[in-house]
Amino acid sequence: MKMEHSVVLVKPDGLQRGLIGEIISRFERKGLKLVAIKMVQLNDAILDEWYAHHKEKPFFPKLKGFMMQSPIVAMVWEGVEAIDTIRKLVGVTKGRAAEAGSVRGDLAMSQSNNLIHASDSVEGAAKEQGLIFSDDEIFKYTSALDMVVYSQEELA
Ligand code: CMP
Repeated sequence: MKMEHSVVLVKPDGLQRGLIGEIISRFERKGLKLVAIKMVQLNDAILDEWYAHHKEKPFFPKLKGFMMQSPIVAMVWEGVEAIDTIRKLVGVTKGRAAEAGSVRGDLAMSQSNNLIHASDSVEGAAKEQGLIFSDDEIFKYTSALDMVVYSQEELA
């Protein structure tokens, strides 16, 4: 089946609120595999690329300011159909509308300060991975968990 990478950022509000461990723990317990992680200070150049599709939105300048308030934690998680799976774990953009049980549904109230970013497509994930990580920062390793998290057919 389709093994995918999804790029996840814990945004400045997540860092300030001490929720990095909580968020990583949820992804680990789900059965996803961590293949890259680092702390990064985002800048104008990266954010112009990252949010190119939001460039015309009225909230764009504020969004960039918010994302540069502090370092963020960037991760790449791997799994079968990881992109859609992680978007469900994260919940919809507006924290107060997000489903209970999701990261935003359980932990966020805001539409802008919504704790976390997750890739929305395979193409988006590839672009985001390239903006933050070099190839040698993405790890390939055998996870003992994969053998119990998935059936053999799903891993084939
Ligand atoms: P995300 O969906 O990860 O990517 C775009 C981000 O823009 C979104 O999270 C929010 O952080 C922010 N955002 C989206 N809509 C608004 C809005 N109406 N006002 C302010 N920020 C927003």
